[in-house]
Order: sequence, then structure tokens, then C-alpha cells
Amino acid sequence: MQTATTLEVLRSALAQLRAEGKRVALVATMGALHEGHLTLVREARRRADAVVTSIFVNPKQFGQNEDLDAYPRQLAQDSALLEAEGVDLLWAPTVTAMYPHGFTSNVSVSGVSEGLCGAQRPGHFDGVATVVLKLFNQVQPDVALFGEKDWQQLSVIRRMARDLDLTQPHVDAIIGAPTVREADGLALSSRNRYLSPEQRAQAAALPQAMRETIAALAAGSAVAPTLAALEAHLLQAGFDSVDYAQLVDAESLTPLEMHGERRARLLVAARIGGTRLIDNMAV
Ligand code: PAF
Repeated sequence: MQTATTLEVLRSALAQLRAEGKRVALVATMGALHEGHLTLVREARRRADAVVTSIFVNPKQFGQNEDLDAYPRQLAQDSALLEAEGVDLLWAPTVTAMYPHGFTSNVSVSGVSEGLCGAQRPGHFDGVATVVLKLFNQVQPDVALFGEKDWQQLSVIRRMARDLDLTQPHVDAIIGAPTVREADGLALSSRNRYLSPEQRAQAAALPQAMRETIAALAAGSAVAPTLAALEAHLLQAGFDSVDYAQLVDAESLTPLEMHGERRARLLVAARIGGTRLIDNMAV
């Protein structure tokens, strides 16, 4: 596996792959890799001849009081994991390589980025869209894979790809891969490592409560009281607060007041100690 830390090296490594006639897949990450990321890499290998993985802890998507400094950085360990998965090229730019002095551009995707996490984390999705657009321009992948765990992020990226003609054919080239879960249902996340053993045990209430909610909705329960019961369940299980629990249209992310008319998705963000966990499931 080759590692590029400058655009020059990245471009020449990509030119080599293209000269060999290879279709390129991109798996964009912020490192601290876990099985969820490795599943994306394996899926990428199935869909293309060469896999490029980026590791970049993107300062633009962290708010002022968020965990940018504390975010786990373990490039050597991540690099060994990617090498073992047969990744061809690791793109690991520095902050200055990604955002050189004088950088002032910003990509903003309205609508899908405004509610849910967007309302709680102002500027977060602008930061994601800006860096993902840069990664697309840098790598020019034939296909790119993102985890469904970050459903709103995936929706923002899909919207941006359609709006800005990023890929050909644009919709199919952005692949969402199903969330990978622990045995008790907790979605894998680089932030799970912040949980104490007690908090980790309590965190399993999140997927459990979501499954119960989905069953209640399928049985005909009204949306608002069922979501209120979900919040109560989480608080009782040890969560400190619930940022949101919403039933939304799976594509536009507009809130749904009734279940059954459209393809729906349940999205939840809740805090346990200092850790904010998010999850989503098809309804
Ligand atoms: O999901 C992530 O790890 C990040 O938000 C991404 C897509 C790599 C952009 O920084």
C-alpha cells in the first residue's frame, strides 16, 4: 500500500492506477478505524479494481466545543489495518495540505443538512460537504462508499453529488453500506471508546429502544407519543439527554407525523456522559 501525504504524490499514484485501467473506489474516513470502516473497504474492493482510503480529521466539521483535539488519531495502527485489507493507496493529508493558507471556500447543502444533527451542530455539514467535495476532486473516484450509520451525512453527500454533477452516473456511484453493530446492537462508532464500561452497557438501550419504537409504529401506534416513549426509555436507561428522536422521510429527511405513507427512517441522537451517540434504522 502506498501512502500519499501531498497532492502531488496522490496524483501521481492515481495516474498510475488509471494507466493500468483500474476503476477506483474511495472510502473517506477520519481514521480511528473499526470494523464498520473495514466493511466499507471490503465492499469497495468488490466494486472497483483499486481502493483509495482517506484519513483526515477534518477541523471544519467540528464545532467550537466539540472533540477535535481529543478525536483519536492512530495513523500507524490504521495504516496497518488498511494494508491488511488490501487497500492500494492511503491518502493522509495534513491540515495545511487540505486547507492551504488563504482557503476561504465553503460548500453548503441546504434542506437535508438543516434539521437533526445540522440543527444541533451548526456548520457541521458545511464542513463535511466541503471536505468530501475536495476529496472527490482530489481522487476522482468511480465509486465512493459511506456508512449508513451517518444517515444524514449520506443524504447530504448524495444531494451534493446530484446537485453538482460529481459522479457519473451520479446516484449509483455513492454507495451507502449498512451499519455494523456490536452483538448487543450498539452501532460501531469511533466515539464508543469514550464510554466507560457502565455507560457502554447502558448505551445498548439505544438500539433496543429504537427497535421497540419501530415495532410499535408498525403495530399502528401514533408517531408523537411513540417517539416520546422512546425518549423516556433512553433517559430511564441512563442517557443524560436526547438531542432528537424523529421519524423522517428517508431521502428528504422531512419529519413525518404519520407512519406508512412514505419510506421512513427513525433517527436518534442522545448523550451519555460527555458522549453523543447517533443511530438510525429503516422503519
Ligand atoms: O464520516 C466521516 O468519517 C467523515 O464525516 C467524512 C465523511 C470522512 C468527512 O470528513
